[in-house]
Amino acid sequence: MSVIAVIGGTGPQGKGLAYRFARGGHEIVLGSRDQERAVTAAAELGERVPSATVRGARNDQAAEAADLVLLAVPYDGHDALVAELAPHLAGKVVISCVNPIGFDKRGPYGLDLGPTSAAEDAQRLLPESRVIGAFHHLSAVSLNGSADLLDHEDVLVCGDDPDAKAAAIELAATVTGRPGIDAGALRMARQLEPLTAVLISINKRYKVRSGILVAGLDPAVDVTPAPPVRPAVPATT
Ligand SMILES: NC(=O)c1ccc[n+]([C@@H]2O[C@H](COP(=O)([O-])OP(=O)(O)OC[C@H]3O[C@@H](n4cnc5c(N)ncnc54)[C@H](OP(=O)(O)O)[C@@H]3O)[C@@H](O)[C@H]2O)c1
Repeated sequence: MSVIAVIGGTGPQGKGLAYRFARGGHEIVLGSRDQERAVTAAAELGERVPSATVRGARNDQAAEAADLVLLAVPYDGHDALVAELAPHLAGKVVISCVNPIGFDKRGPYGLDLGPTSAAEDAQRLLPESRVIGAFHHLSAVSLNGSADLLDHEDVLVCGDDPDAKAAAIELAATVTGRPGIDAGALRMARQLEPLTAVLISINKRYKVRSGILVAGLDPAVDVTPAPPVRPAVPATT
């Protein structure tokens, strides 16, 4: 079991993931820019998961105390905060669930970052850390809800360091009940992060909380193409 720090642990996403990790037996340090807010959020989480070891601390202290760190802050202000925390994150696995998303009158959209992503920006700012992208598509409402496991969803994980990626893949099981899915190199975050805008758009249209579930991974599933239902009709001359 690891000590997991959640940077931005006072927000709905950080709280929700911390709740799931705490239930999975991990020790949690909820981080905030403000010590008091962190302590309050930690007390709430401790009440919700009495068996868990939970505390609140300033983001830098939380990062220092952890083996593994989750970045759960808005994209606005992300780079400045990550740069400030760099010395405290050196040598650690850092998981980013940050989605650079904008909203206008037509709905949500992925921000155009050029050939990068929030996770890659974090890696650039944290050369001594191993950054992984994961947990982008889980809604805070579901994470904070009463379902035992979010077993109707998959966690897609991207990263360049195999051991760090394996840690995130394993951690995903505390949320969905099964390991996360290796979605490739860290640069896949350029696709994974804005995909959340599609889910938000679907949620608005259908009044649901949609998620990602990947088909075709079970080797027991026969993927041989089925024969045509009807023989093709010969062309008439
Ligand atoms: N909400 C969701 O359903 C959801 C789903 C998937 C992914 N995400 C991603 O997860 C991240 C967090 O989402 P959220 O909804 O929890 O966000 P949020 O409530 O807006 O922010 C989370 C926490 O970040 C801190 N924060 C806010 N602005 C900051 C700034 N400029 N610099 C540093 N820290 C700041 C705040 O904590 P303190 O004031 O206590 O420091 C805040 O409580 C986002 O990147 C989002 O895209 C969210």
